[in-house]
Amino acid sequence: MRTSTTFLVLLFSATVCAGADDADVDRRVAALLTRMTLTEKVGQLVQINRQTGGVPDALKERLRQGRIGSMLNEITPATSQEIQRITVTESRLGIPLLMGRDVIHGYRTIFPIPLGQAAAWDADLVKKAAAVAAEEAAGAGFQWTFAPMMDIARDPRWGRIAEGFGEDPHLASLLAAAMVRGFQGDDLASPKSIAACAKHFAGYGAAEGGRDYDTAHIPEGLLRDVYLPPFKAAVDAGAATFMTSFNEINGVPSSASEFLLRRVLRDEWGFKGFVVSDWESMSEMIDHGFAKDLQDVAVKSIRAGVDMEMQSPAYADHLEALVKRGVVAEKLVDDAVRNVLRIKFRLGLFDTRKGFAAALPGPPSPAALALARTAATKSVVLLKNDGKVLPLDRKVRSVAVIGPLADDPYEVLGTWNRDGQIEDTVTPLAAIRSLLGSADRVRHAPGVPYSRSRDKAGIAEAVEASRQSDVAVLFVGEEAILSGEAHSLAYLGLAGAQKDLVEAVESTGKPLVLVVLAGRPLTLGDLFAKADAVLYAWHPGTMTGPALADLLFGVETPSGKLPVTFPKAEGQIPVYYAHKNTGRPPTKRKLTLIDDIPLRARQSSLGDAARYLDIGYEPLYPFGYGLSYTTFTYANLRVATPRLKATESLRVTVDLTNSGDREGEEIAQLYVRDVVGSLTRPVKELKGFQKVRLRAGETRTLAFDVPAASLGFHDQAMRYVVEPGEFRVWVGGDSRSGPEAGFEVTE
Ligand code: NOJ
Repeated sequence: MRTSTTFLVLLFSATVCAGADDADVDRRVAALLTRMTLTEKVGQLVQINRQTGGVPDALKERLRQGRIGSMLNEITPATSQEIQRITVTESRLGIPLLMGRDVIHGYRTIFPIPLGQAAAWDADLVKKAAAVAAEEAAGAGFQWTFAPMMDIARDPRWGRIAEGFGEDPHLASLLAAAMVRGFQGDDLASPKSIAACAKHFAGYGAAEGGRDYDTAHIPEGLLRDVYLPPFKAAVDAGAATFMTSFNEINGVPSSASEFLLRRVLRDEWGFKGFVVSDWESMSEMIDHGFAKDLQDVAVKSIRAGVDMEMQSPAYADHLEALVKRGVVAEKLVDDAVRNVLRIKFRLGLFDTRKGFAAALPGPPSPAALALARTAATKSVVLLKNDGKVLPLDRKVRSVAVIGPLADDPYEVLGTWNRDGQIEDTVTPLAAIRSLLGSADRVRHAPGVPYSRSRDKAGIAEAVEASRQSDVAVLFVGEEAILSGEAHSLAYLGLAGAQKDLVEAVESTGKPLVLVVLAGRPLTLGDLFAKADAVLYAWHPGTMTGPALADLLFGVETPSGKLPVTFPKAEGQIPVYYAHKNTGRPPTKRKLTLIDDIPLRARQSSLGDAARYLDIGYEPLYPFGYGLSYTTFTYANLRVATPRLKATESLRVTVDLTNSGDREGEEIAQLYVRDVVGSLTRPVKELKGFQKVRLRAGETRTLAFDVPAASLGFHDQAMRYVVEPGEFRVWVGGDSRSGPEAGFEVTE
């Protein structure tokens, strides 16, 4: 039984303390600040985009006067070098610029989109991929990436769901921290490291209706329990910078949120880096109806704690005058400049001139390609495999390789591929031909020319190719441009004539394997029903082809698990596993669905619960779901700590058996439920997972240790509490399965 007392855990108190190096950096920053004019100080807070025409005279002049602190998107190494040269040798104080770029899932070597990386549930892999990207980007003249994005997203209509780690705060926090560590390495000053940027702070993924840039209403408790933890993890991992989000949150645009930027980020978490606004998100506060003009924008953002302004000119044009007029205290500007300079020193810009000797990278190294192949392989989720049609036999007589994405080297690179080159991409068609060692056994027909095309002229050829082959593998989905920023969708079915293509190929009666390449969950239940097997591959990047060929032909076994719930239909959104139970949970009630409703039925005869009459309440696939070519069974869930204090750890063991006939990797997931709370708690929350490789027939006992301190939430007074009382725990292969047990947190 729960008692009324609560156990307050100061789990999330800031623990940042300055080390010896930090003290040295702070001394150098202080010394430099005393030499700076107000103009030069404001200059450090200004970031501009690359200019057309290289280094125009007007830009040279601004650089010489110290009016610019950072640039983004200067991709021509010679120009970037010239800009740094002018800044360092011709400005009075020679403070180097920070050159930034969106290096989101690779620079030249493109790894799976972040949502795909999340499906691998592998922090080490994420870290290694970011390290490759950092080294390539640093070589090209960048010292700063605008990644990782860690916005929790529970709405696949939102195109930017592709850029994040999915719907769950526990998984997203681990991966966000890993990506920060990968970009930044052990030492920011290393020539291979670049500064990370935790974005978008905050609540951007909660945009109403999944429309990018739209309003977010997030109660503070939900914000703290679900949306903020990845950002806290990024601070703890040492993220050098933060970016505000475009949206307003509870009526205040993030770029003016003192609550987020001062109270949470600085005071509670002890963040020591700097905050950049998103692109024109400051000037857009005028459109939000929060600021009347650019002066007002500058006042509100500097007071809230935005240190650097991206692209819009509020600071550049008004901050100096506002300080001179006494509207803005110079101390606020000094604080912001300190934050920026601290990172410039820590990056080694003053000492090593990192990134100044820029050159475009050559083709990906063999090691980078090998890692990209592993990451792509592990990101793919097997959703269906009837009659074990997969893996295909390598001795198969012939394969029809169909679909608009079967041989497209660009679209499989996904959103935010800025610097990857299509000549590096190995397409599925090329990889399958190479794996089978013969082009003759592979018939290729795109069927439709590109994903949105309504042109059905090529479908007949695809049908013919399928008829003549033993199996049809269809590569369908979304082009890269259909997900990402500003690319929200109301319909999540297959675009263009792809549905017709799938149906036509299915009508041949040949075994049908669907490979879906997309930036988000699509609502493809009806088409999945027609396929014998489905691999959900996201946008896997440079090594798309080899990864998919390996999986299709059983060189590798799928191991990915969904980092986000798959809805049956758009009308079911938002649908996520960690929902509340409601007073009428559908699981407990007998329910009649639409086709079974008798004519003239009485209102109350169908069963009342939180569900839809037409599609019920289950998602198409739950969070955490993913099959393998082998099977895994969970048994003997034991709780070694049936009663534990909030300061102790929950210890749970379970026997995991590879019950199939081949080796495979399983992601075992631990979920808990706090049964009764002073605020209602989600039906399940992920609190741990392990990736385990087992031989056929092998059983291993897995032990999970979960600090009870991580089982809490923010109560009505916004205190983080672990409340005593009964909990349930499950360990299984997804958020809907696995044996269950109970334990109690005591006073
Ligand atoms: C706007 C996007 O929201 C942000 O994620 C990105 O880093 C900046 N533009 C810079 O390109």
